[in-house]
Amino acid sequence: MPIYFVCKARSVTDPALPMLARTPTASPLRKCDNEPMYTLLRQALFAADPETAHSLALEGLRLSHGLGASQWLCKAVHQPRTVMGLQFPNPVGLAAGMDKNGDYVDALGSLGFGFIEVGTVTPRAQAGNPKPRVFRLEKANAMINRLGFNNKGVDHLVAQVRKRKFGGVLGINIGKNSATTQDKAVDDYLYCFDRVYRHADYITINISSPNTKGLRDLQGAAQLDKLLGALSDKRNELTETHMKHTPMVVKVAPDLDEQQISEISQVIVRHQIEGLIATNTTLSRETVKGLRHADETGGLSGAPVRNQANHVLAAFRNVLPPEVALIGTGGISCGADAAEKIQLGADLVQFYTGFVYQGPDLVSDCVSAITARARP
Ligand SMILES: Cc1cc2nc3c(=O)[nH]c(=O)nc-3n(C[C@H](O)[C@H](O)[C@H](O)COP(=O)(O)O)c2cc1C
Repeated sequence: MPIYFVCKARSVTDPALPMLARTPTASPLRKCDNEPMYTLLRQALFAADPETAHSLALEGLRLSHGLGASQWLCKAVHQPRTVMGLQFPNPVGLAAGMDKNGDYVDALGSLGFGFIEVGTVTPRAQAGNPKPRVFRLEKANAMINRLGFNNKGVDHLVAQVRKRKFGGVLGINIGKNSATTQDKAVDDYLYCFDRVYRHADYITINISSPNTKGLRDLQGAAQLDKLLGALSDKRNELTETHMKHTPMVVKVAPDLDEQQISEISQVIVRHQIEGLIATNTTLSRETVKGLRHADETGGLSGAPVRNQANHVLAAFRNVLPPEVALIGTGGISCGADAAEKIQLGADLVQFYTGFVYQGPDLVSDCVSAITARARP
């Protein structure tokens, strides 16, 4: 039997929507059908702790892809569009964090994603925070994580993505090592940027994960100006060396106010950044108060972050010129959530937590809903 999540659909013009990021309100769950096979698989996976389930699911997917069976899990979804000068087979992507090392690009790609973002990767391999560090808030279709950029380092990721056969767009998301002091943060980004430049279709500058001390400070106007200035100069150099222009995308937090959004937008325009991802996980617990694990430290993702992420997305669309592409991320649990982000001004959408709860059908659901909403 499919699982049904009861929801109250809500118009984006609803005057009751909260003021920007100040008072996050619960994002009502829409009705989402789970594919019955995935419902069973999910039950089995959720019996394990979240990190074990994550590894089991990805290894299982890789195996089934190797056997040529993973295509059965998805419907072909071709709705091409050009964004940032790149050809996307469809506008629905996998958000960063699920494949931090680029180990599963082809297996995940076989599920129909138009683009996959790997990372966050740092210059050197690091273990991340002590376990347990990922928690499911099942009643809210949500997760809290404080992984802290556990990854095998940028050289491993580059070796992996060079082997890919995935025909969609590949984003590589870069960050800094936790041991790197704040005054040396720019060097870590420059190092990763240089290493991944040739191999990425676009590069995401992650300045919004809440689990690396000081990372979010890079969203401040002065620090961001310095970071993006250095990366733009580096890009000019690499464009010549490799005869290839790789678009840059900045990923921001949902915990931003209007002033910060305005300042970040000015810096993005000044340095001719092609895109922005709104948003990463939130530090707010407003929408999950009283739920099991709600008090765990880390970033909250999934359905409860949707309203807040949507407000930040819409606010950036308001102030950024149309040539800056927007990728809407945060709280997509069904097709209607994806279509809503496009309606708010996103050119593309991505999800992570919704994929854990809804399974591979979420890809085609989102593509169909976006296509249907686009029709006159
Ligand atoms: C377990 C987990 C790990 C994540 N790791 C990263 C990461 O390494 N880099 C990053 O930019 N975002 C990371 N994210 C954030 C997601 O990419 C996404 O921005 C956020 O979860 C909101 O989308 P969602 O509600 O669809 O999950 C992670 C999210 C989760 C749940």
